[in-house]
This record gives sequence, C-alpha cells and structure tokens, in this order.
Amino acid sequence: MTDKIVLRPATPDEIPALLALWARAAKGTSITDDAVGVAALLARDPECLIVAAPADDPARLLGTVIAGWDGWRCHLYRLAVDPDHRRRGIGAALLAAAEQRFTALGGRRADAMVLDDNALGHRTWQAAGYQPEPQWSRWVKPLQG
Ligand SMILES: CC(C)(COP(=O)(O)OP(=O)(O)OC[C@H]1O[C@@H](n2cnc3c(N)ncnc32)[C@H](O)[C@@H]1OP(=O)(O)O)[C@@H](O)C(=O)NCCC(=O)NCCS
Repeated sequence: MTDKIVLRPATPDEIPALLALWARAAKGTSITDDAVGVAALLARDPECLIVAAPADDPARLLGTVIAGWDGWRCHLYRLAVDPDHRRRGIGAALLAAAEQRFTALGGRRADAMVLDDNALGHRTWQAAGYQPEPQWSRWVKPLQG
C-alpha cells in the first residue's frame, strides 16, 4: 500500500488540517498542539514535519511524524496515522523517512517519548527497531503561564 503514498514536508497552509488530523489520530496532546506552535516549528525547520498523503490526492493528510533535529539529537514527535488508514505501512514509512532525514543530517540515534500505556505505539516502535530505556524518566518545567 505504501507505493500509493507520497511522503513530503508539511506546509504552513496545512496547519489547520494537521491539527485536525492530530485531534483525530494522535495519542495524547502536547502543549504545542496549536497553530502558533506548529507555525513556529515550520518556521524554524521547514523540512521537519513529514506528512503522508495518497499519491493521487497529495493534499489529503493520512499521517504525520515530526523528525526534529537540533544539531545534537534526533527527536521524533507526533507519529500519527488516520484511524481509517492504519496497518497499511504508513507509520513505518513515515518513520523510515524520518530516519533517512536524521542520517542525512548526521544524526546518530533517534528517540521518542512514548506513553507507558500506549500498547499500540509500543508495537509500532518495536517493529521499527526502537527499544525503551527504563532507566530514564521525563523531567519537565513549564516556561509560560
Ligand atoms: C502507531 C501508529 C502511528 C501506527 O501507524 P500504522 O500506519 O498503522 O503502522 P504500520 O501499518 O506501519 O505498522 C508497522 C508495524 O507496527 C506494528 N503494528 C502497528 N499497528 C499494530 C497493531 N494494531 N497491532 C499489532 N501490531 C501493530 C506491526 O508490527 C506493523 O507491521 P505489520 O503490519 O507488517 O505487522 C498508529 O496506530 C497511530 O496513529 N496510533 C495513534 C497514535 C500513536 O499512538 N502514535 C505513537 C505515539 S508514541
């Protein structure tokens, strides 16, 4: 099925469609899941948000991944596929495209934050070769509000 899918960078005019897809398809929400947040991401790194679309309807968003490279590490965010189009290899294709990007940029290892109770996510990451590192926890501090 992946031969009928195109992978390409998202564009700023697609921000409403991206947010709508994430509301439907993504697991959990992020503090940056709004138009300002996505616009800032695309302004800083226009190639980092990779979308999957049907080859014959490239404006229709079926899946996303953010392949974030900060010059030091490779972080993956917002891996999500439209629930009506899952289990067709789109998620795996998005991860492969993200990893290609990281490799081309000189990245050495990719990582993702995955909720402990996201069994579906665990299967997908594991199938793509990712393993949890149980010795780490996430430490956070809100910077606004
Ligand atoms: C996780 C997600 C992106 C996977 O997308 P997808 O396009 O369905 O994944 P793929 O079809 O490429 O599956 C790749 C492999 O992952 C595993 N996998 C994916 N979904 C699975 C399921 N429901 N059950 C068992 N294994 C599954 C399989 O090994 C699969 O390979 P196979 O189909 O050849 O057996 C999608 O289910 C999703 O959007 N989930 C909600 C958001 C989410 O949890 N994202 C991850 C956040 S950390």
